[in-house]
Amino acid sequence: MAKNITVLGTGYVGLVSSVGLADFGNTVTGVDLRTDIVDTLNGGRSTIYEIGLEEYLQRDLESGRLSFTTDGDAAIADADIVFFAVGTPPKADGHADLSQIEAAARQVAANLTGYKVVVTKSTVPVGTNRRVQNIIAEASGKTPGTHFSVVSNPEFLREGKAVQDFFHPDRIVIGYEDDRAREYMEDVYRALYLIQTPFVWCNLETAELIKYASNAFLATKITFINQMANLAEAAGADIHQIAKSMGMDGRISPKFLHPGPGYGGSCFPKDTKAVAATGDEYGVDMSVIKAVIEANDHQKVITAGKLMRLMGGSVSGRTVAVLGLAFKAETDDVRESPAIDIVQELLREGATVRAFDPEAMDNFKTAVVGEGPFGNNLNSDLQEQIAEAAASRLHYCSDEFDALTGADALIIVTEWNAFRNLDMDRAADAMSGRLIFDARNVLDPERAREKGFTYAGVGRV
Ligand code: UDX
Repeated sequence: MAKNITVLGTGYVGLVSSVGLADFGNTVTGVDLRTDIVDTLNGGRSTIYEIGLEEYLQRDLESGRLSFTTDGDAAIADADIVFFAVGTPPKADGHADLSQIEAAARQVAANLTGYKVVVTKSTVPVGTNRRVQNIIAEASGKTPGTHFSVVSNPEFLREGKAVQDFFHPDRIVIGYEDDRAREYMEDVYRALYLIQTPFVWCNLETAELIKYASNAFLATKITFINQMANLAEAAGADIHQIAKSMGMDGRISPKFLHPGPGYGGSCFPKDTKAVAATGDEYGVDMSVIKAVIEANDHQKVITAGKLMRLMGGSVSGRTVAVLGLAFKAETDDVRESPAIDIVQELLREGATVRAFDPEAMDNFKTAVVGEGPFGNNLNSDLQEQIAEAAASRLHYCSDEFDALTGADALIIVTEWNAFRNLDMDRAADAMSGRLIFDARNVLDPERAREKGFTYAGVGRV
């Protein structure tokens, strides 16, 4: 039987989950602290760029099953199930900042008007759901399993494919402790039972670690192919044929074997650091994941350094077109994007940068000068230096050919489809130089060379 659901947090995970759960027939109230976000969402406009999301948002608002509010207390009081989809950003030491999760737990405790299931969908370190259970029990004086139950239900949404991934998940993972909570969750996801989605029922700690293990493995796989590409390039081998042949082994699978400038985004960097920190906490060796973190940071440095080398060692006074600023295609998200490191390096070295991205330029403008979530890692001197350079030598262009105009070199950092089909003739006419560094291997090297370009990819001959 459909449930009354409240989702705390309308960020990337919370908004997609609110819309998806409403579409499954539940009545859903999304909660955010910011009135402007709540008003935008109630007006049927999505606050994040995700293909297909706004259509579902409007359909579910019209159905009367979905609404948004800033009044978390009332929304929790009325709910059978409360989803936590609040942020768990990394602290400087790599541990996840759980302050928003703990505040949400206390808010539930203050509004425990009847039996409720509290579902943590945010990615949280092992043991956090147990901690949520203790906070609610202590703050409310109520007993877990009778007056409330805690469930761990991690998400596996990819940015740019979040709507598709929500409605067609590879699996639903549910950590639970009592049958009543299990029945509630079966009701929530009944629509997925009908399409035979696999369900993994396990304990709280297992569900939490499944999420981290999955992301840390994917980050490891990407880092592996990046290092293999670096070796292939040095040895004169072709990484695409290596990846293709590896993928023919069913145990490896061909997916996630695309070399590039290093992974970014709000998940892999955060989750790999959190797993490493958890290992330290339990005194368990997580040296593989620690090596992945280091190797990925180094891949961004290698990519920027390779561009310098290709341009003869100095870019001072030269113009470089940067196509792609988002951490990957089909998103406007620039968190931990390699483009930030590359553009900062080019500005520091005296280059003029002509940048274009179909969706991510607004977000990039704050992140690259240290105001954005990522840029906060910059020290103040560096922030000032980048801000000054950006003011005079970083140009945001109207399209890829505007970015190419007068450029001595081009680097492709994000694999947008528009760049895969780059018109080489127009590129040659626009550019003053003939160097292409394709850091995502999206172009055909032969076609580029036929047009007189010096082409360099990643691990390609
Ligand atoms: C990831 C996980 O895929 C998803 O299951 C989890 O819920 C959240 O984190 P996301 O970060 O949105 O999703 O993007 P993803 O498509 O996984 O790419 C992550 C990073 O790896 C991007 O920077 C991407 O460019 C890079 N990547 C991915 C590669 O460099 N090569 C690949 O073959 C695949």
